[in-house]
Amino acid sequence: MLRIQGLNQYYGGSHILRDVDLDVQEGRANCLMGRNGMGKTTLLKCIMGLEPIAGGRILFKGEDISRKRPYDRARLGLGYVPQGREIFPQLTVEENLRVPLASKRSKGIPERVYELFPVLKDMARRRGGDLSGGQQQQLAIGRALVLDPEILLLDEPIEGIQPNIVKEISEVIRLLNREQGLTILLVEQKLPFARATADCFSILNNGRNVASGEMTELGDDLIQEHLTV
Ligand SMILES: Nc1ncnc2c1ncn2[C@@H]1O[C@H](COP(=O)(O)OP(=O)(O)OP(=O)(O)O)[C@@H](O)[C@H]1O
Ligand SMILES: [Mg+2]
Repeated sequence: MLRIQGLNQYYGGSHILRDVDLDVQEGRANCLMGRNGMGKTTLLKCIMGLEPIAGGRILFKGEDISRKRPYDRARLGLGYVPQGREIFPQLTVEENLRVPLASKRSKGIPERVYELFPVLKDMARRRGGDLSGGQQQQLAIGRALVLDPEILLLDEPIEGIQPNIVKEISEVIRLLNREQGLTILLVEQKLPFARATADCFSILNNGRNVASGEMTELGDDLIQEHLTV
């Protein structure tokens, strides 16, 4: 569904992503792993068109989307939950959820968002900034689902979140993937969460995709070499 070929990216003179190839197959939950600063967030931003790429291609359902604007990628079916959530603290929960609908006036917030996260309905009139970290994360995921994506990119969704909500978020991602058929690309460093949530993995090390496989094949050797600190 999502195919990245020979992707290169620079911040100024720093070569961050190096010839990255990555395939995310339809219906699967793929976990992108790697230590801090290896380029995981940069890769998701390139996929969404939030950072320019220096070379390579990004194909979504066979179409080259490398030159498309972020909003057009979102409308084509890519949903994005950024690292650190990036909700709008001054807007209400409902206003946050309406942001992606800006130019689609006829359509409201899909009921499914509130079914997945009832707390967002209860808190619809509260300001985003008044929510707990876990609730803000639920809001960020809800916002990414408003345009009914076919693939959901999530960047470290449990960073700094209380354990009870971590479990809820893992369950929601699994439900979206296994029961509703949503394809997932999850960035995650924590092994138990990655194993519980994803079917397969890819590892970035210094901007290179150094390993990929089924989650069951992620053994101690790879963990030692690329993941433990
Ligand atoms: N806007 C920027 N300008 C310059 N360098 C940047 C910028 N954003 C990230 N970098 C650098 O690019 C490299 C990759 O960063 P990136 O945020 O993609 O890593 P990451 O794998 O997501 O790390 P983490 O696990 O800490 O979130 C790092 O060396 C980082 O310092
Ligand atoms: Mg990151």
